[in-house]
Formats: sequence, C-alpha cells, structure tokens
Amino acid sequence: MLRWAHLIAGIMWVGNSMLFNWLDRNLEKQVGQSRLSQGKIFMLHSGAFYDVEKKLLEPGEMPRILHWFKWQNFSTWVTGICLLVLVYYMHDAGGLVDPSIHDVDRTVAVAMSVSAIFVAWLIYDVVWKMLGDSNPKAAAVVSVLMLFAAIFGFSQFFSGKATFMQTGVVIGTIMTGNVWMVIVPSQKELVAATKAGREQDATLSLRAKQRSIHNNYLTFPLLFIMLSNHFGGATSHPLNWLILILVMIGGAGIRHFMNIRYRGNGKELPIVAWFWPAVASGAFAIAALMIVTRIDARSVTDVDTPVPFQRVQEIVATRCVTCHSAKPSDDTFTSPPAGLRLDSPRQIQVNAKAIRLRAVVQQNMPFNNKTHMTPRERGELKRWVDDGARM
Ligand code: HEC
Repeated sequence: MLRWAHLIAGIMWVGNSMLFNWLDRNLEKQVGQSRLSQGKIFMLHSGAFYDVEKKLLEPGEMPRILHWFKWQNFSTWVTGICLLVLVYYMHDAGGLVDPSIHDVDRTVAVAMSVSAIFVAWLIYDVVWKMLGDSNPKAAAVVSVLMLFAAIFGFSQFFSGKATFMQTGVVIGTIMTGNVWMVIVPSQKELVAATKAGREQDATLSLRAKQRSIHNNYLTFPLLFIMLSNHFGGATSHPLNWLILILVMIGGAGIRHFMNIRYRGNGKELPIVAWFWPAVASGAFAIAALMIVTRIDARSVTDVDTPVPFQRVQEIVATRCVTCHSAKPSDDTFTSPPAGLRLDSPRQIQVNAKAIRLRAVVQQNMPFNNKTHMTPRERGELKRWVDDGARM
C-alpha cells in the first residue's frame, strides 16, 4: 500500500512540477499587458480551452480560494520515509547492511542512515544560505561535490540497493526541505505582501526560485533511484556509486536542455541548441556506463575439471533453494522471490543463464550471501554453464 501511495504521490508531485515549469517557459507577453501580468498562455485539454495568466495581484484582488501545491510533495516524502523504515530499517536492518561490503553493526547502520539524512539537509541549507546570494556557482559546485562524496560514502557502508535508496531519501528530503522551509514561506510572504499592498521581499523570492530550480534538476535522478530496485546490475555492481553518479549527470543534463528549450513568447531554441546537446549528454552517460559496467571487479575461482550436474544440484539445493522453491524455508521470504523456483533439475537448467548472471557475474545472489556461498562454488556454477549447462 505504501509503495503504491508513494508512486501515486510522486507522479502527482513531479507531474505538477513539470507542468508548471513548462508553463512558465511558454508564457507569452501581451502587447500592452498590465504592469502586474507576467504573460498568458492558452492550452487545450479535456474538451475546452484554458486561458491562463501568470500575474501579481492588487491588494483587493486576493481570491477566496487559492490552490497551493505542497501536499503532493509532503505525501511523497512521508510515504518514502515509511518505506525506508519498513523495508530497510526493520527486520534487523537486513536490507541496509551487506556483510560482504561492510559488516556494520545494525544499530550503527540505522543511526548512520538517519543522521546522514539530517546532516545532508543542514549542510546543503547552510551552504546556500551563506553563498546562495553572493556566489551561487560556488554553492552549486560545493553541493554537487558533496552529494557525489556522500554517494561514495554510502556505497562503502550500505548494501547496493540501500546505497541508491539512501541517496534517494537524502535528495528527496532536500527537495522537501526546499518546499517547506524556503518555497512555501516565500509564497506566504507573497500573499501577505499582496494583502498589505506592498512589494514582495525580493531576497525571499530569489531564494525560493533558486531552490525550485534545484528541485527541478533533481527530479530525473530521483525518479531513476525510485526504480533502481529493478536494476540489480546497477545497484550490486562494485562500482555502483560511479554508475549512480553517471546516471545523475545524464538525467540532470537532459533535464537542463529540456529546461532551456522554450524561451517564452512562443519562441523555441533551434533544434541544434537543445536537442543534440541533450542527446549528447544522454549518450555520454550511456557510453560511460557501458565502460564502467564492463569492469569486472568480482572474481571467481577457476575450475579446471568439468562439473557434473549432480554437483550443481547440490550447490543450488544448499545455497539457493532455501528461498527459490515453492515453499521456501527462509525466515524472510515466504514465497519464491521474483517467482523463481530452482527446486527441480529442469528448472535449474532452464534458468542456467540467469543463475550465471546473478551468482557468477554480478554475485548479488544468494541475496546478501545469506547462505554463505563460496567463490569456489561460484566457479563451479560458471564452469557448468560455460560447458553447455548439461543435465
Ligand atoms: C535469502 C533468499 C535468497 C537466496 C538464498 C537466493 N536468492 Fe535469488 N532472489 C532473491 C530475491 C529476494 C530476489 C528478487 C530481488 C532481486 O532480483 O534482486 C531474487 C532474484 C533472483 C534472480 C532473478 C530472477 C528474476 O527473474 O528477476 C535470480 C536469477 C536468482 N535470484 C538466482 C539465485 C541463485 C542462483 C541463488 C543461489 C546461488 C539464489 N538466487 C539464492 C532471494 C534469494
């Protein structure tokens, strides 16, 4: 239920944010438009025309009902935090720790995860409060470098999946902090200023604008992280931190060129100025990812003699079938994970390629090596599959 709610809230939040961004960039300035108007836009949707104007209001013009957009963000964050606790902190923090990476004490791991979330927000907020007005470029460089350093740090302590999720929660919390601590207060000030018939405090609105641009750039990377549980090859790779950083650069890069595409007043940049740079930044990230994922840092013991099927069955029975069977004996998994069953000879053979991928190449199976598989056994599985996976 939480995952579902998280997804729905996330779609509403990011969807809103993207629509408003697009809208802002497509506003048309009218000839002789009033001093308070910032432009108009016509849209067609669900059976009629929308005539939207972005503007400031005179004191007496405050509408009775004013729609704010903050609860979508709030519910995404709250459901995300609940998921973090449920999936990664509970069950003795089994999802957070991978003994083959770092055998951190479970309580310490949870404490590290929680404090990293708060500390990240505090540092980011202080950096932008101190440098945001005077030297935003320096603030941006510092924030990005610290984010990348944090990702590397997480990868040294947490399991692969938790490294990605921890990064996601840090980013999501920063974005939520931006909404509630900077953007909403600035909007409240705008409403107060309008009611009082005075100018809005310009520094507040400048800061809100900055933070809202940060959130905009972070959406694509964050969405990738939300789905990263499906990319075992990325999360469990020995260089998973580098993969994540490359995806973030590619994602934010594409967002950047989408952002600069519309210039307002119905004008669009020429295709060479946004489309090809966007393709190039995506291609850069993909090429770099292909190079990184080819680096095979995990070794297996070489096995010189052919491995009989009987031996393979033995290995699978002791190391895999505790989870991958019709009725798993594992204490966490009560049904075969990913629907994969390896409890008959034929099932082992049919899944030989997948077994090789997960137990030999990526070595993210057995799950957290819960059943203590040895490098020698991985070597035996490899030899059997490479010899043609014969029964
Ligand atoms: C402690 C439980 C556990 C053990 C033991 C275990 N697995 Fe898994 N396995 C999982 C879970 C959970 C998933 C789903 C999450 C994922 O794909 O990472 C999974 C997924 C897989 C998949 C991907 C299936 C698909 O269609 O996506 C393969 C292949 C696999 N395991 C092979 C193995 C092999 C081979 C072994 C033994 C060497 C093994 N597993 C031992 C828990 C386990």
